[in-house]
Amino acid sequence: MKVRTLSALTFMAAAALAVSGCAGAGASSAKASAPEGPQAKATIEARSDSTVTGTATFTELSTGGVKAHIHIEKAPPGTHGLHIHEKGDCSDPKAASAGGHFNPGGMPHSGPTDMKRHAGDLGNIEIKADGTGDLDITSDMLTVKPGPNSVVGRSVVFHEKADDLTTQPTGNAGGRLGCGVIQ
Ligand code: CU
Ligand code: ZN
Repeated sequence: MKVRTLSALTFMAAAALAVSGCAGAGASSAKASAPEGPQAKATIEARSDSTVTGTATFTELSTGGVKAHIHIEKAPPGTHGLHIHEKGDCSDPKAASAGGHFNPGGMPHSGPTDMKRHAGDLGNIEIKADGTGDLDITSDMLTVKPGPNSVVGRSVVFHEKADDLTTQPTGNAGGRLGCGVIQ
């Protein structure tokens, strides 16, 4: 009887695993199964007479940090700087109203993997020949929840040129072709 109970339990566990495996397959890009917290979004609109459009989604992870997904369309092919800027204001025709890079820590400009960097330094996004590009990046310097490093009330800016990850304080990424307020 004891053996039978055990094997029944084993069978049930295996079945449960199979079911959860199937259910998880659709979300395979999510790392492990860490529950996700609050989300913030931005709709990126054209600025500086460009045609750029796009979306950005920021998801706070239960393990800390924020997972960002940025999708860009109708952009010039090549490498383009992408940052979070400090002001949630894209009203200027050249997005100058978005201010400088989001920098709550008072750090120098740098690349997204450097310890000392602006919290808003997301590096570069590659735009394909068809004018689209996607960037997936996780940052331990951002939150969605309220706080000094929260992305809410900031903006996402897509630039004319590549960010050289070195020049202070902008990365020499040129004009602002797209801008979206994060909310
Ligand atoms: Cu920027
Ligand atoms: Zn920066």
